[in-house]
Amino acid sequence: MAAYITRLEIQMSTINRQFRIAARPVGMVKENDFEYAEVPVPDIGAGQARIRTTYLSLDPSMRGQMENRADYVAPLAIGDVMRAGGVGVIEASNNPGLPVGALVGGTLGMQDYAVTDGKSLPVRTYPPGTDPTVALGVLGGTGMTAYFGLLELGEPKPGQTVVVSGAAGATGSIAGQIARIKGCRVVGIAGGADKCSWLTEELGFDAAIDYKSQDVGRALDTTCPNGIDIYFDNVGGEILDLCLARIAMHARVVICGGISRYNAQGPIPGPRNYFNLVFRRARMEGFIVIDYAKRFPEATRQMQQWLDDGQLKHRATVIEGFQNLPKALIRLFQGDNIGKMMVKV
Ligand SMILES: NC(=O)c1ccc[n+]([C@@H]2O[C@H](COP(=O)([O-])OP(=O)(O)OC[C@H]3O[C@@H](n4cnc5c(N)ncnc54)[C@H](OP(=O)(O)O)[C@@H]3O)[C@@H](O)[C@H]2O)c1
Repeated sequence: MAAYITRLEIQMSTINRQFRIAARPVGMVKENDFEYAEVPVPDIGAGQARIRTTYLSLDPSMRGQMENRADYVAPLAIGDVMRAGGVGVIEASNNPGLPVGALVGGTLGMQDYAVTDGKSLPVRTYPPGTDPTVALGVLGGTGMTAYFGLLELGEPKPGQTVVVSGAAGATGSIAGQIARIKGCRVVGIAGGADKCSWLTEELGFDAAIDYKSQDVGRALDTTCPNGIDIYFDNVGGEILDLCLARIAMHARVVICGGISRYNAQGPIPGPRNYFNLVFRRARMEGFIVIDYAKRFPEATRQMQQWLDDGQLKHRATVIEGFQNLPKALIRLFQGDNIGKMMVKV
């Protein structure tokens, strides 16, 4: 046993496991679009620190990043380490601003170790004792997305009706709760009875619609009799169209994401009902959360306060094991997560 533990320790400290892009995905992302590699643990130079990854995030946008296209981040090449957000602990450091033992988060990539001087790979430092699943979830990228998307673009007012799609996911579950905290009526759309009962029974959503078993249009008519003041869209497609058909005067349609299109092949149909924006004098607007990076500390303080006083709840679906990273990304698209999908590496 002692020999086994020693071997394990040596292995952990000398090998950097990675997943790299092996192929551009066609349709649904597949496990063999990734290739596993082992390289030596990177050394650090002057001013640098080495981060040992503890949790990696699975995000719908990773599918798009595997394609050779430049949108809001640089495209990745075949053979590149797959880009992924993560949290980790500083294990070795020549940089006083990145002390050994600190919990940090950033785009660490699908690998055990990342090196930064603080600028080459920007990282956020979390207060000592922060739960890493909280750092990666509700206080990480998806929490920030929910916060700025809903508050800045949605502009919620007490009594207004807010509909959130992808509502039981990392972003949607937080966006819906922030709307509730702001005094809105909140209707979530999610896939499956378990997800819907989590929304209404634990998170305080006023209603939930199971898009896999219910007629969404009819359910929206029942739950939103005066129309939708804010639609926080995570999915696009048919659900976006059904919501556009039901917007209230001066509604805000927040385009956060469109997961229904990410694995689609061929031309993507546009929303048929967009012209209702004219009739209802409404606004539809997209955003990218990184544009709010300077304001993350302000959002983190507010969200931490809501967490502390019990107004904001969060959940993570944690899959164990580095080797399961590609599978976990596929499972995200299959809706196997409630709250934030992550892998404990
Ligand atoms: N604009 C930004 O800066 C920004 C930043 C982060 C994320 N996003 C976007 O926010 C959305 C949510 O991301 P997340 O990280 O929080 O993921 P998530 O919601 O935690 O997970 C994805 C969920 O999408 C649902 N889904 C999968 N395929 C679907 C389909 N064809 N139609 C409808 N729902 C589907 C599944 O739930 P069901 O079981 O309910 O189907 C799945 O659990 C994504 O569109 C993402 O691209 C945008």
